This record gives sequence, C-alpha cells and structure tokens, in this order.
Amino acid sequence: MENTGPAIETKKLTKTYGEGRTKVNALKSVDLAVNKGELLAIMGPSGSGKTTLLMILGLVTVPTEGTLVLDGDNIYNGRARDFQKLRREKIGFIFQFSNLIPFLTAEENIMLPMDLVGVPSQKARSRARELLDYLEVTGRAHELPERLSGGERQRVAIARALANRPAMILADEPTASLDTDRGLSVMRLLRQLSTEQGTAILVVTHDERMIGEVDRVLQLVDGAVVSDESQTKAGSPVSKDPPQGASQSAAKPPESTVQVET
Ligand SMILES: Nc1ncnc2c1ncn2[C@@H]1O[C@H](COP(=O)(O)OP(=O)(O)OP(=O)(O)O)[C@@H](O)[C@H]1O
Ligand SMILES: [Mg+2]
Repeated sequence: MENTGPAIETKKLTKTYGEGRTKVNALKSVDLAVNKGELLAIMGPSGSGKTTLLMILGLVTVPTEGTLVLDGDNIYNGRARDFQKLRREKIGFIFQFSNLIPFLTAEENIMLPMDLVGVPSQKARSRARELLDYLEVTGRAHELPERLSGGERQRVAIARALANRPAMILADEPTASLDTDRGLSVMRLLRQLSTEQGTAILVVTHDERMIGEVDRVLQLVDGAVVSDESQTKAGSPVSKDPPQGASQSAAKPPESTVQVET
C-alpha cells in the first residue's frame, strides 16, 4: 500500500444498465476521492446507486464510463488486469450478514484471504490470531460461525477484511443486521481501525444514528452525488459541499498509532 494520495479516486464514474426503454442510469458522473484513514458513509434512498457504486469501487462491476484509480493504480486504462488479484490484495469486503464460511472456524475464515494470495499458513495463522486479539474475539478463534453471536460474527468478518492489509475496505450495510448498540460498536470499531490501520473505509448505511461516528457523508440521489460533507466530532456537518481538496484535508486523521504486524 502506498503511503500518500487517496486510496480510491473516481472521475465521472457512470453506470448504465440495459438499453432503450429499460435503460437505467444507476450512476451519473460520480467524482469521489477517499483518503487512507478516512471513514466515509454513503447514504441515499433505495435505488439511488449505493451498492452499484460500492461494487464498481470493489472492481466487481465494470463502469460504463469514467476513471477509477485504486491506491495510485489507474484500473481501466486499457491494460488487461487481473481483477481477482487486485481485489484480494487491495480491497477488503464486509457484508450485511457476515458471510463467513460456515464450515470454517473463525480463525480459518480470517486465514482464507491470506491463503488465496499465497501467505504461508503459519504466518497467516499468526496474523489471524493477532486480528482476533485486536477485535477482542480471541476466545472464539476455534468456533464455527453458527456458534458466534451476530456482533462476534461481524468482528470476525472485519478481521477477515483486514487480513491482507487492504488500501480500502468496502462495507454494504454492515450494521443492518445488528441492534443499535451492537451496530454502534461495529461502527466505532470501523472508525478506530480506519485511523489506526490507515485504511479508507466506505460504508453504505441507512442508519442516521451511525453518522456521528464517520468523517464524511456522501449522499446519492438517482445515481448522482447531491452532497459530500465532512463531519465534526459531534457528528454535525462542518460545511456544506466543500470543494473536493478542502473536505479531504479536513477529514484526514492523525498518523497511524497502532500497527497490527505479523
Ligand atoms: N444488475 C442490474 N441490472 C439492471 N438494473 C440494475 C442492476 N443493479 C442495479 N440496478 C438498478 O440500478 C439502480 C441502483 O441500484 P442499487 O442497487 O445500486 O441501489 P441501492 O442504492 O443500493 O439501493 P438499496 O438501498 O435498495 O440497496 C436501481 O434502479 C436498480 O434497479
Ligand atoms: Mg444496495
């Protein structure tokens, strides 16, 4: 992971589904830059394009138009790319339901992304243990997901997303399946690790109560960005629609304080 510059940057990102009468403009010319260490909430009504945006940023869906630079790497510049490899190395995913593999233990679930990029298993195991510690679920290492609570499952899923030290983590409604307290604690955890690990974290959420925990809120309506506001600590906007550069420097957190190293 490079140390300077945004984790992700898009210019005029556009996604159109279908043709003719069934054509849907799911994203309309989205410009977005998210720095390492920044926690961004993506909000908007159902159908406004939140998941589409997340899936494009996650290199799962190809945009119709526009540029996407991931960790300094211009992805759609005509060169053939190994998207699977890029995803495994650069991006962590967290889902609404933890999506843990049911027949693998918590520890094995966290090891999986490391196995996929060829980390030797002893090293992967020791990093998984460190992450379980960091997320305060050490005692659950050898349990299968069905034996974990919803909050514990999400913590293991977060540990799995962190495994390969991604430049960016994408989370689609990670608190929606949890009650308010557990949801807030997951959100605070994401807050803490974006700062400590220097990871950009983009979270789709419908829940206004989570907004107090984030640096910045992006609002989508009908596939277009209608506002992009930095938040103060208290959760209220600092300024309305600040210029791109200004909002990013304002939201930049202090340098990394804690490292989870193997
Ligand atoms: N694969 C697809 N084919 C055609 N249209 C699609 C496809 N995926 C999404 N859309 C359309 O694109 C628009 C944006 O959908 P998207 O799933 O991104 O919304 P969302 O903001 O995530 O909504 P929700 O809050 O309900 O999850 C919608 O009009 C949707 O119907
Ligand atoms: Mg969605």
